[in-house]
Amino acid sequence: MKDKRMPAVVVVETGKRGDWNTLDIRDVPMPSLEPGEVLVRVEACSVNRADLLQRRGFYPPPPGASSILGLDFAGEIAEAAEGVAGWEPGDRVFGITAGGGYGRYVSVAANHLVPIPDRLDYVQAAAVAEVFFTAHLNLFIEASMQAGESLLVHGGGSGVGTAAIQLAKAAGIQVIVTAGTADKVRRCLDLGADYGINYRTEDFASQVMQITGGKGVDVVLDWIGASYLERHIDILKTRGRLVIIGLMGGTRTEINLPPLLTKRLRIIGSVLRSQSGQEKALLVQSFRDQVLPLLEAGRVHPVIDRVYSVHNAEEAHQAMREGLYFGKIVLSWSEKEKVQQGE
Ligand SMILES: NC(=O)c1ccc[n+]([C@@H]2O[C@H](COP(=O)([O-])OP(=O)(O)OC[C@H]3O[C@@H](n4cnc5c(N)ncnc54)[C@H](OP(=O)(O)O)[C@@H]3O)[C@@H](O)[C@H]2O)c1
Repeated sequence: MKDKRMPAVVVVETGKRGDWNTLDIRDVPMPSLEPGEVLVRVEACSVNRADLLQRRGFYPPPPGASSILGLDFAGEIAEAAEGVAGWEPGDRVFGITAGGGYGRYVSVAANHLVPIPDRLDYVQAAAVAEVFFTAHLNLFIEASMQAGESLLVHGGGSGVGTAAIQLAKAAGIQVIVTAGTADKVRRCLDLGADYGINYRTEDFASQVMQITGGKGVDVVLDWIGASYLERHIDILKTRGRLVIIGLMGGTRTEINLPPLLTKRLRIIGSVLRSQSGQEKALLVQSFRDQVLPLLEAGRVHPVIDRVYSVHNAEEAHQAMREGLYFGKIVLSWSEKEKVQQGE
């Protein structure tokens, strides 16, 4: 692998933190193949909100990870390190990585990969890993959700939101979503959500209390953080769980603590990217056991709004900045640019 090079979408840095550094395709060294890893020839990867932060210098990769953007990918195994069992060159796989998904090749721990179900192509598979792993991890492992419980998900039209709606419904959970437009609310309902709230025109907390007859919800999946924290504590039922996975609405706030005690609430913070290799391997196994059969049967599916050629990564990021999409934005190495409204 030494001295071999590959194309990758790279961030051309201005050196000033916060700038929207430009994206370009450049030749970079191929990733090395360490024991226990496989080298995947990437056909498609997805755009995640974290990529926009990293591009501006706000979300550096964890130590040891590639500095190339990209948290997930789908492609074909090009090579497996000696002693790796269960994978062969040519196998179609998708998975997560702490960095490097925007490269033509990525090296990944063999136990972080998932076989692509026959019904999915590379573009569809690339839209699965980061958001379905995140939804599965936070709803079912962190928050231990059970059938018959209720969930509030903000931004139901996001990548994680569309995954969470489907996984929760498949598990017999009542789902309330928020979204920023009437059209997104409607599309969340079409995807299976039980109730939708336009957070720009209505107060989500009073709507949740009205919908639940004053009871509140068991779990909130939240990436808004500070600006919603007090309202989340108010709308959680006794023994409710608030899982915070992002901080789009700020990092600091002051809250009234007594309900935390009297309702015996749990506030859980969670990040997938910086978990250890062992923790990720356990998550991948849990995903393979519980979510892969749903994907194979078509009971849940990735929701893709747009597919861009990697040569148009800049436009793909611009589309995410504008927020005018429902589900996922995908970058493809082989497809011509196309915009798919819907799935
Ligand atoms: N901790 C982790 O391991 C982890 C992993 C993956 C993702 N995340 C985080 O999870 C979030 C979702 O990821 P994604 O890639 O699916 O993001 P995304 O597609 O960029 O979606 C962000 C969503 O947030 C919604 N939103 C923004 N402000 C809101 C507000 N004030 N109230 C309610 N909703 C609001 C938007 O809704 P509208 O467009 O309808 O306005 C949009 O749907 C991001 O913050 C991401 O960083 C965390």
